[in-house]
Amino acid sequence: MKDSLILGIETSCDETAAAVVKGGKRVLSNVVASQVEFHKKFGGVVPEIASRKHIETINLVIQEALEQAQVGYKDLAAVAVTMGPGLIGALLVGAVTAQAIAYAWHLPLIGVQHLVSHLWANFLASREFGFPFVALLASGGHTCLIHAESADNLKLLGETLDDAAGEAFDKVAKLLELGYPGGPIIDKLAKQGNPHAVNFPRALLGSRDYNFSLSGLKTAVVNYVKREKREHLQIPDICASFQEALLEVLVVKTVRAAKVKRVRQVALAGGVAANSRLREWLAKASKEAGLKLFLPPLELCTDNAAMVAAAAFPKLVKGEFLPFNATPHANLPLSY
Ligand code: KG4
Ligand code: ZN
Repeated sequence: MKDSLILGIETSCDETAAAVVKGGKRVLSNVVASQVEFHKKFGGVVPEIASRKHIETINLVIQEALEQAQVGYKDLAAVAVTMGPGLIGALLVGAVTAQAIAYAWHLPLIGVQHLVSHLWANFLASREFGFPFVALLASGGHTCLIHAESADNLKLLGETLDDAAGEAFDKVAKLLELGYPGGPIIDKLAKQGNPHAVNFPRALLGSRDYNFSLSGLKTAVVNYVKREKREHLQIPDICASFQEALLEVLVVKTVRAAKVKRVRQVALAGGVAANSRLREWLAKASKEAGLKLFLPPLELCTDNAAMVAAAAFPKLVKGEFLPFNATPHANLPLSY
């Protein structure tokens, strides 16, 4: 069982991904086909385009993952797939593909919750990582804080009440006509700007809960840009000030959650984990609070299938399999 090979498949948003992982720990292959080029001109992910591109790419991506790992279907112990949350049309492509493979090759089918799989990126990245921990998951689709006491005891402490962090980065970049995806562009421009130039709101910073609200910040940037004359706008200053306001709430609430829940480990996941200011700020804040911070490498932070195969391993051990006709859900709970 410890050397079992799992084929992971991920299609919850705009990456078509497949990976082979051995024993839940060793990544033999991790193939990701990004659709960013096709969504770029719309300034965000278009669900219908995402589904169609997954259909076009999924078989090639799986083939590539098997080839890179130098294994065939007959060598696999199971097929694992993301069952939600995500875009329903996109999820369906991965789910029916995994079902067909499992049926044809008499393999068990394992369903994985997307946010849980993001947490598992940390187990792939570091042997030192373990329960209990608090994780900040921030991507284009999600922003939440999770308290993980054990694999069977994951609690959603709080989440965004409106926009996700990556979504806010993308929308502000679109407003400033900077390009897509906005996160990396704002991250870069912010380095040349003054983070204290504009005092943008930090919603829910002082509230005792662990929720976030980021749409007001986005509106504040919209209003600021409307108010200021075009020629007076200092784009790097706006980027730095917006980023600072957004990240302060994320960092403060993550460290507070770890202290209140009395855990010593903090983990970061999701595409926004690529943000250089967030990595630096959370590292400093964690150190000051006596916490150990785990930052997976970028290719494991953004959507990928290695994390799906890793998250499926404990289910393989327990024999938690899905029927071949299981359907994915756009809003699958953490407890799935
Ligand atoms: O996890 P991910 O690849 O896909 C999902 O949304 O599931 O995350 C993509 C998001 C985008 O919104 C992108 O703008 C953001 O992550 N992102 C960043 C950075 N790199 C990517 N946000 C802030 N700073 C970055 N360096
Ligand atoms: Zn994701």
